[in-house]
Amino acid sequence: MIEVKNVCYEYSPDEPSLGAAVEDINLTVEDNHFYSLIGHTGSGKTTLIQLMSGLLKPTAGEIYIDGINICDKKIKTRDLTRKIGVVFQYPEYQLFEDTVFSDVAFGPKNLGCDEAEIKNRVQKALKTVGLDESYYEISPFELSGGQKRRVAIAGTIAMEPDILVLDEPTAGLDPAGRDEILSEVKRLKDERGISVIMVSHSMEDVAKVADRVIVMNKGHIAMTGTLSEVFSKSDELYSMGLEIPQISKVILKLRENNVNIKSEIYTVKDAVTEISKLLKG
Ligand SMILES: Nc1ncnc2c1ncn2[C@@H]1O[C@H](COP(=O)(O)OP(=O)(O)OP(=O)(O)O)[C@@H](O)[C@H]1O
Ligand SMILES: [Mg+2]
Repeated sequence: MIEVKNVCYEYSPDEPSLGAAVEDINLTVEDNHFYSLIGHTGSGKTTLIQLMSGLLKPTAGEIYIDGINICDKKIKTRDLTRKIGVVFQYPEYQLFEDTVFSDVAFGPKNLGCDEAEIKNRVQKALKTVGLDESYYEISPFELSGGQKRRVAIAGTIAMEPDILVLDEPTAGLDPAGRDEILSEVKRLKDERGISVIMVSHSMEDVAKVADRVIVMNKGHIAMTGTLSEVFSKSDELYSMGLEIPQISKVILKLRENNVNIKSEIYTVKDAVTEISKLLKG
């Protein structure tokens, strides 16, 4: 569990005119949930996940993971990476080893795992992201953009963190690639009972996988709640430059036209189920 208490972060504390990137952040991330972190560009999403993963130290406030204050200087990076793993935006640019296998092995090696454990973790992680043994000895630089992204994600998964954070993991991928990565991460979450925090600009992606949503606006937390709680406040979301999924807009229009369909529909799959019921009814 992560507890963020009264956290503030300024990139340039010496220049107060620039203001804080995030301010008054109070947030609890519970175990075994899929969170989506949404918000307009520049609202502070990346800053917040860097704070939660210990890469930035708050200018004010405290952050606890499983009751441990991660800002405490005595905390070892290695202990922190076991708890929380981050996949940054466009992580494929950070691949650097000669082979896919050694790239994914880098994290578990640094955690001090033995050879057998490293192999086991690399195999599991690559399987999770849909890359079989034929990729192990290939140079990551010979792969497609989408495959590189998978290798980078596997590198973090192989550290087997309790909380997996992904900053826009589907950005720049084609629709099939997006859906595959989303369902792989969702499956990993369900199988291992970990928590996931996914930064996303796509409300369609959010609706497919998240059960909780955190909304940021201008450096503050504007809303938190279940997917339905947040998506039911479409006017508030609009006012922050955000939208609800396209299909939910169609459903709202149908309701305005006196079609008797429930409003909590956020995915095409659910819409098909509900519309079929109406047609059969
Ligand atoms: N390295 C940096 N140095 C100075 N200011 C920064 C730095 N990184 C971000 N900021 C500022 O902090 C604020 C929050 O930025 P952040 O990158 O956290 O937003 P974001 O919600 O992740 O945006 P996006 O959706 O575009 O990725 C912005 O005003 C941004 O200009
Ligand atoms: Mg960002």
